[in-house]
Amino acid sequence: MEILRNFAVFEGGDGSGTSTQLSILEQKFAKNIKNSPVFYPTYEPTGGKIGQLIRSALKKELVLQPDALAMLFAADRSEHLFAAGGVYSRCRHGELVVCDRYIPSSLVYQGIECGEALPRSLNSSFPAPELLFFFDVDPETAMDRLKQRPSLEMYERIDFQKKVRERYQNLLGEYRSAGIRVEIIDASQDVEKVAEDVWSALLKMPIFKEVSSG
Ligand code: TMP
Repeated sequence: MEILRNFAVFEGGDGSGTSTQLSILEQKFAKNIKNSPVFYPTYEPTGGKIGQLIRSALKKELVLQPDALAMLFAADRSEHLFAAGGVYSRCRHGELVVCDRYIPSSLVYQGIECGEALPRSLNSSFPAPELLFFFDVDPETAMDRLKQRPSLEMYERIDFQKKVRERYQNLLGEYRSAGIRVEIIDASQDVEKVAEDVWSALLKMPIFKEVSSG
């Protein structure tokens, strides 16, 4: 499995706070931290055409069969990685890319919906991240957060979210065995404390040393 250096991903169940933490990180880098690499925050499903299609399925505006949705997630990811200015070339050129959700989301969510084999084969040629953050929070707490939103998306149900957490926990061991750094973040803490934990783990990425040593 190819590991893409300078690439970190945020993973977790719905309501675990990954998007909030990505925007906090973005604000931090915007303050021009000393010796920091160029930072590129991004997310999946992307804001591109395929991502938009996926978002309408998540909002239940468009009905798709689970296998077709799994294929769309993979197509969106392929564009995200390999189109001009994509994640792959940015990382290879020394930018630090942090992505809110990546392959593990497909292995977990589409694994539940379609079975293991399809998401594994659809994602088998994509590189793995160097660092995987797992935002861990119990599904009840996460659902309480989600219920504050105007509407719930298709996977935002307690029974589904319990399976999501279980599957992530199994998957983390697999990533570790493949040589990928996994950081488990206690996402039940307040937002500021979570941000501190994320920051100190992120700073251990070799890219920070490489930039400061010129
Ligand atoms: P989010 O923007 O709130 O993280 O929502 C994205 C939703 O899409 C979330 O429920 C997880 C799901 N998802 C998948 O099922 N498979 C994937 O590959 C990705 C990237 C997301």
